[in-house]
Amino acid sequence: MEEGGPSELTLPSFAKINWRLRVIGKRPDGYHELCTVFQTVSLHDVIRFEKSDETVLKCSDPAMPTDGRNLIMKAAAALRAEGGAALGASMVLEKNIPASGGLGGGSSNAAIALIGLSKLWNLSPAAGDLARIARGIGADVPFFLTGGTALGTGRGDAIEPLDEISEPLMMIVTPRLGMDTASAFSALNAQNLTTSTSESNLVVCRREARNLRTEQGDLVNDLEEAVVKSHPEIAEIKGFLKDCGARVAQMSGSGSSVFAVFDKEETRQATLEASRKLHWRMFAVATLSRSQYREALNPCHGLLPISF
Ligand code: C5P
Repeated sequence: MEEGGPSELTLPSFAKINWRLRVIGKRPDGYHELCTVFQTVSLHDVIRFEKSDETVLKCSDPAMPTDGRNLIMKAAAALRAEGGAALGASMVLEKNIPASGGLGGGSSNAAIALIGLSKLWNLSPAAGDLARIARGIGADVPFFLTGGTALGTGRGDAIEPLDEISEPLMMIVTPRLGMDTASAFSALNAQNLTTSTSESNLVVCRREARNLRTEQGDLVNDLEEAVVKSHPEIAEIKGFLKDCGARVAQMSGSGSSVFAVFDKEETRQATLEASRKLHWRMFAVATLSRSQYREALNPCHGLLPISF
């Protein structure tokens, strides 16, 4: 086994929501051109890494695959291929973020595996290399190398930090629906991109993202209408949260989770109480700023980009 690096380390792996998600059009590679505002929130998984001869993953959720289909194992393989070294790690994932819920759980786990394993294996990849490997694993993975409030363009994988949005009183509600990101995008039936529509739309989207307020009118998710058609329960959750007094309620990513922002703790508490009678998973959360994100990832924050 290689020398250097700690023998074990434990890191949190945070969830995200999308304050805005605009789909600009369909790209020639089959993906969709996006302009989205990501936000890390306090809900998190925990990943423990320990040096080992073999690479193995265990998960607290028995329904979660722990073989090569798991993005943590994909991240480990991608990093090993890049580093050229035959290193292993025994990893344990404590899962709290609902899978396939539009909260980026798998993508976050992949990004944290990249930085956790780099530390464990004493690798020093440049931030640009980590971002490139992250992009190869999934479109949402690069955001989790930055955290806080950030703009995602391209496939959602070109990340620019934005001024932080701070909302301490939030709630996430996730119904027990199996969502599939690819079907959410294809249900949208988006137009093929032309260079001019892409460029002019991006200019507008970027401006709107920079001036975003957490008011219902500013929060848009272009995937929501198509997803709600096949999963009306999402509209029901949104209505429930608004009726309970949420300032805004919006679907995250490709669903099925809905996040809400409250002005008063009493209103949030009453909403949590009222929703306990229903069959949804729910989480009281707060936004997590970029500096809080970096702090939580200590001692690995040296591996995160420092361009902000
Ligand atoms: O990159 P990731 O594996 O997370 O994306 C899952 C699926 O979501 C893709 O295979 C694609 O069908 C769809 N997608 C898309 N445009 C994006 C991101 C994802 O069409 N920008």
